[in-house]
Amino acid sequence: MYKTILGIETSCDETAAAVLRQENNRITILSNVVASSADLQAKYGGVIPEQAAREQLKSIIPVIQESLQVSGYRGQDINAIAVTYGPGLIGSLLVGVETAKTLAYIWNKPLIPVNHLIGHFYANWIGNSSPKFPCLGLLVSGGHTDLVLFTSHGKYEYLGGTRDDAAGECFDKCARLLGYPYPGGPQIAKLAQKGDPKAFNFPRPMLNSKNLDFSFSGLKTAFANILKEDLRAKKEDLAASLEAAIIDSLVIKTVKAAQKYEVEQIIVAGGVAANQELVRKLKVKSEKLKVKLHVPPPYLCTDNAAMIAAAAYYQKPTPDILTLQANPNLSLAIDR
Ligand SMILES: Nc1ncnc2c1ncn2[C@@H]1O[C@H](COP(=O)(O)OP(=O)(O)OP(=O)(O)O)[C@@H](O)[C@H]1O
Ligand SMILES: [Mg+2]
Repeated sequence: MYKTILGIETSCDETAAAVLRQENNRITILSNVVASSADLQAKYGGVIPEQAAREQLKSIIPVIQESLQVSGYRGQDINAIAVTYGPGLIGSLLVGVETAKTLAYIWNKPLIPVNHLIGHFYANWIGNSSPKFPCLGLLVSGGHTDLVLFTSHGKYEYLGGTRDDAAGECFDKCARLLGYPYPGGPQIAKLAQKGDPKAFNFPRPMLNSKNLDFSFSGLKTAFANILKEDLRAKKEDLAASLEAAIIDSLVIKTVKAAQKYEVEQIIVAGGVAANQELVRKLKVKSEKLKVKLHVPPPYLCTDNAAMIAAAAYYQKPTPDILTLQANPNLSLAIDR
C-alpha cells in the first residue's frame, strides 16, 4: 500500500487537490485544497460545462502546487497519484485526467483512476473512522441518490437509486424556485431551521414500493404548485416541509435496506450528507437498529480530492498511464 497519495478531482465545477498519508492503517489529510467557480454558478444559476472546464484549466496547476506546498511534499516524493476519471462533465474530467497522466508520466509515479461516486464513500475512511464490511452505502449528492451494499473494498451490489432527480438536485431546483442561487441545499437547510416541517404535506413518492428506489421529481412539481397557489406561504415553512419530505424518503428506504440485508454498519456520502437534519434522523434510526452510522464531516461530503486519494489506497494503479481515458458515464449501477 502506498504511503503518500496526491489526489486530483475535477469532475464538476470544483478544482481540487489533496495529499493524504497512510500510517498504521490510519489515513490522514496533509492538505486539502478546493477551488470553486461558485460565483460564476450563482451568476448563471448553475454550472455551464465549458465555462467550468475553462476555469479548471486556469486553476489546476496552482491548486496542485498549493496542496503539495501545504503538505510539505515535493511532487517527486509522493508515492502515487489518484484522479477522478468519471462520472462527470467530460471537459472538466479531461482537465484532471490529462494533468494527472502528465504528472504521473514525468514523475514516474503509479496512477490510480477513481470513480467519483466510490470516492464520495471513501471520505468515511479518513481519520479515525474505518467502516467494517459488509456495510450499506447511501450516496446523496447533486447528481446521484443510490443505495449499495459493500461486501469488501471495490466489491458492491447496487440495490436501488433515484428514477428521476437526485436528492441534491431536488434541493437545488426548489431553492431556485425560491430565488436562491446554485447550490441551494445549504440555503434550504438554513431556512428550514426556522420553519414548520408539517406546514405543507409534500409527497413522499415510492415510500410503499417494495424496491429500494427513490423519486424526487414529483416533489419539485408539488413545491412549484404550492408557490403558485399559496402566495402567503412562508419560505421557512416551505423549506422545512420540503426538507422533511426528502429526508423521510431517504431515511425510510435506508432503514428498509439495512433491515433487509442485516447490515451492522451504514456509510453515508455526498453533498446532501452535509445536511444536519438528515444526519440527526439517520442517527436516531441507526441507534434503534443497533447499527453503526458513519457520516463524513460536511467539508468532506461535498466534492473534494481527499476522498479520491482515500479511495485510491484500496485500488490498483492503471497498467498503462498513457491510455487512461475519462469516462463521463460511469455509474454505480454498471461499473463494478
Ligand atoms: N446542508 C445541505 N443540505 C442539503 N443539501 C446540501 C447541503 N449541502 C450541500 N448540499 C447539496 O449537495 C449537492 C452537492 O453535492 P456534491 O458535491 O456531492 O454533488 P456533485 O458532485 O455535484 O454530484 P455528484 O457527486 O453526484 O456528481 C448540491 O445539490 C447541494 O445543494
Ligand atoms: Mg460529487
